[in-house]
Amino acid sequence: MLSAPDFFTLEEIDEVVSAIRCRTDFEPRVALILGSGLGGVAEEVDAAAVLATAELPHWPRTTVEGHAGRLIFGSLQGQKVVILQGRVHFYEGYTMAQVTLPIRVMQRLGVEILIVTNAAGAVNPDFVPGDLMLITDHINFVGMAGFNPLRGPNLDELGPRFPDMSQAYDRALQGLALASAEEAYVPMHKGVYAGVAGPSFETPAEVRFLRAVGADAVGMSTVPEVVVARHGGMRVLGISGISNKANLDGNTPTSHEEVLEAGRVLVPRLEAVLRGVLSRL
Ligand code: HPA
Repeated sequence: MLSAPDFFTLEEIDEVVSAIRCRTDFEPRVALILGSGLGGVAEEVDAAAVLATAELPHWPRTTVEGHAGRLIFGSLQGQKVVILQGRVHFYEGYTMAQVTLPIRVMQRLGVEILIVTNAAGAVNPDFVPGDLMLITDHINFVGMAGFNPLRGPNLDELGPRFPDMSQAYDRALQGLALASAEEAYVPMHKGVYAGVAGPSFETPAEVRFLRAVGADAVGMSTVPEVVVARHGGMRVLGISGISNKANLDGNTPTSHEEVLEAGRVLVPRLEAVLRGVLSRL
C-alpha cells in the first residue's frame, strides 16, 4: 500500500460514482453488504451490471479469502439493489475512510436503505454456530478507542458533525426482518453486536468482558459502515450469522475456516430472511 488516505474529499467520492455511472445508470434503492462466507446471496440477483471493484478509482482491494470484490447491480424480489461482495476491514491495514468509502459511494448513488450482514462470534452463551442474530444495537469499541470513521473534516454535504446514534438500527426494518424470519421458519435471536478491530480472535477474558458490558456477538466489521450510513441518513438493517462460539473457556480455538464453513449453513437462512425483507419494503 502506498499512501492510505485518512479522509476522502467529496470530489474523490464522486470520482468513484462517475466511474460507476460510466458503466451503468442503474439506480439502486437498497444496498446489501455481504459478510465472510455469506456472498452466495448475490447469485440470486437478476443482474443489470457487475463491476469488479478493482476497476474503480480509490476503492480498496480485498485481501481476505471469501471476499471477492464485486459490485452487483440488479433486481432482487422486485427491489433495485446494489450488492457489495467483499468488504474490506480495518485489520487489513486500511484506514476507516477506505473501509467506509463504499457507503459514501452508495449514498451518492441514491441508496436509502443499507442491509449489512456479517459473520460473528457468539458471546451470548445461548447462541450456536448457524444461528442468525438481528442486530438491535452495537458497541463501537474501535470508534471509542479513537478510530471513529467520522473522525476528521466533516463533509457537511453528506451529514452532520455530531450524528445521532440512538436508533442506529431501524426499528421498522427490524420488524420486517423478524416477520420474514418467522414466515420462513428461520429462528432469529436479537442482540448487541460488539465491533472490534481484530484480526486476532478474542481471548477468554476479552469474551467475558464483552459479555459483561452487554454484547451478544462480536465481529470485526459492520460498525464503521453503519456509523457512516447513519451519518448519511440511510436506514440500516444488520444481521449477524453466528459462525463460532467466542472462545470463552479457553478450550475452543476459533479459526477462519470455521467461520467460512458456518457460512455455508447460514447462507440459505439469511437468504430467506433477506428475500422476505426485500419483498416487504
Ligand atoms: N470474533 C471476532 N470476529 C469474528 C468472530 C469472533 O469470534 N467470528 C467471526 N468474526
